[in-house]
Amino acid sequence: MNQSMAWATAPTSAGSDDCTLSCTCTEAGGHIAIENLSVSYGSQKVVEDFSLHIPRNAVTALLGPSGCGKSSVLIGLNRLCDLIPGCCVTGSVSFSWLDNERLRGDLIQLRRQVGMLFQRPNPFPFSIWRNLEFALKQHGLKAKVEIADRIEAALKEVGLWDEVSDRLNDSALALSGGQQQRLCLARALVLDPSVILMDEPCSALDPISTQKIEQLVLRLAEKRTIVLVTHSLGQAQRVADHMALLWKLEGVGKLVERGTARQMFDSPKHQLTQTYLQFAA
Ligand SMILES: Nc1ncnc2c1ncn2[C@@H]1O[C@H](COP(=O)(O)OP(=O)(O)O)[C@@H](O)[C@H]1O
Ligand SMILES: [Mg+2]
Repeated sequence: MNQSMAWATAPTSAGSDDCTLSCTCTEAGGHIAIENLSVSYGSQKVVEDFSLHIPRNAVTALLGPSGCGKSSVLIGLNRLCDLIPGCCVTGSVSFSWLDNERLRGDLIQLRRQVGMLFQRPNPFPFSIWRNLEFALKQHGLKAKVEIADRIEAALKEVGLWDEVSDRLNDSALALSGGQQQRLCLARALVLDPSVILMDEPCSALDPISTQKIEQLVLRLAEKRTIVLVTHSLGQAQRVADHMALLWKLEGVGKLVERGTARQMFDSPKHQLTQTYLQFAA
């Protein structure tokens, strides 16, 4: 059911009327439906006609060489693209289990439902406690007891509570890189999102911190939808249920193949998939 609901992009976007990200309500349950997503920066189109159904409560890995548009797809999903001057996204994105009409008009709700973790940990230059409290207050929570309970639960969920409970007022910037990344994950989780976008979340981390994040990804996917961009084929093998390969073809990023992780690794259909995945252990 297409309700023709245009997600208007920010005024800073490339500007024309056709620069919209429409949000359609689908009847089918259990997936993020991305239809014909195209992304441009100024006059440069970098992703074209990207369509993919991402199953709910599973890990979907987006793979492909640098520059093929993986991050651009991610920022189309939570509309961070609106914050980038000159970035124009067209196509439609719908979350079959959510009230897309509400999300269309309420970016704060959209970003609460669709959390994001970046390549480099980016805690706010506040205390550990305030990083999480800030997120909750931004979303209108005022009750002190509930705030405290949710902060403790989020820190426990990412395995940080035992490591930091005696220094919650210390600066988040004093934590190790791996701890900072888990704090950033807790900052997303404290808002109880149903989708978490992860853009190469382990590329700046040591192997032990990477393992912790991968274990969290597996656990979180029991009740949340994870979209994970990774360059690590080993990581994709360890955590992904589904995969999609993007490739820059004639100068534009396009979907080459999608499938279950097992099918993509064991019997890739496209020559590019075979070439890209042949180095997996
Ligand atoms: N803010 C931006 N302004 C202009 N071009 C950009 C911007 N962000 C990304 N690009 C370009 O878009 C293309 C896709 O980039 P990106 O989505 O980051 O790819 P990937 O995540 O697969 O490495 C690249 O050519 C990149 O240079
Ligand atoms: Mg990227």
